[in-house]
Amino acid sequence: MTVNEHTTLVLGGTGRIGRRVTRRLVERGVDVRVGSRAGEPPFDWEDSSTWAGAFAGVRSAYLMYYPEVDWPGAADAIGAVAGLAVDAGVRRLVLLSARNQDEATRCEDAVTSLPVEWTVVAPASFNQNFDEGVFLEPLRQGCWPCPPVTTPNRSSTPTTSPTWWWPRSPRTGTSARGTS
Ligand SMILES: NC(=O)c1ccc[n+]([C@@H]2O[C@H](COP(=O)([O-])OP(=O)(O)OC[C@H]3O[C@@H](n4cnc5c(N)ncnc54)[C@H](OP(=O)(O)O)[C@@H]3O)[C@@H](O)[C@H]2O)c1
Repeated sequence: MTVNEHTTLVLGGTGRIGRRVTRRLVERGVDVRVGSRAGEPPFDWEDSSTWAGAFAGVRSAYLMYYPEVDWPGAADAIGAVAGLAVDAGVRRLVLLSARNQDEATRCEDAVTSLPVEWTVVAPASFNQNFDEGVFLEPLRQGCWPCPPVTTPNRSSTPTTSPTWWWPRSPRTGTSARGTS
């Protein structure tokens, strides 16, 4: 385990998204700790006794909830972990959120209300879904597996895609200590 005050914790760091985030950070010389049940120390969303150890000595963290941010209890879990992180001295949190889902905004509020620098990213779908993820097999069968994506940002023409499919631009901010 590597611990110094510049350590960045990447939750889900062994997964499809987290592996890429981890690799990019390592390439930039960042000291990265992988946060997952297989991490060292382990981090398990379902076992709060693992949380403090995973965040010890961490300065920044990429928060990725599993299985989904719209999962029941996700906002409470994210709020508890993010609060523990801030109390442990983490100064910057990045939350992987999701498309336009009401439940996702509760998860975002749980982070953006904390006294910490934060960034929320809310993609529609990562490229790797198409080359190693759930969309690969349908594509191989000649089927386009997604609704047509026409976002308000990219076109003024009426869209036929459901609003939940639209990605949102990343947003970033800092909440002052003591505000909600
Ligand atoms: N793909 C997209 O386009 C997209 C877009 C927005 C959001 N997301 C969300 O991003 C998340 C991760 O996606 P992915 O494709 O990277 O998933 P993935 O490849 O299945 O990886 C899941 C990661 O979560 C960890 N994990 C699983 N259960 C855990 C638990 N109980 N506690 C702690 N860590 C746990 C796994 O590591 P261990 O097994 O070692 O614990 C692994 O690192 C999902 O919630 C997904 O909905 C995906």
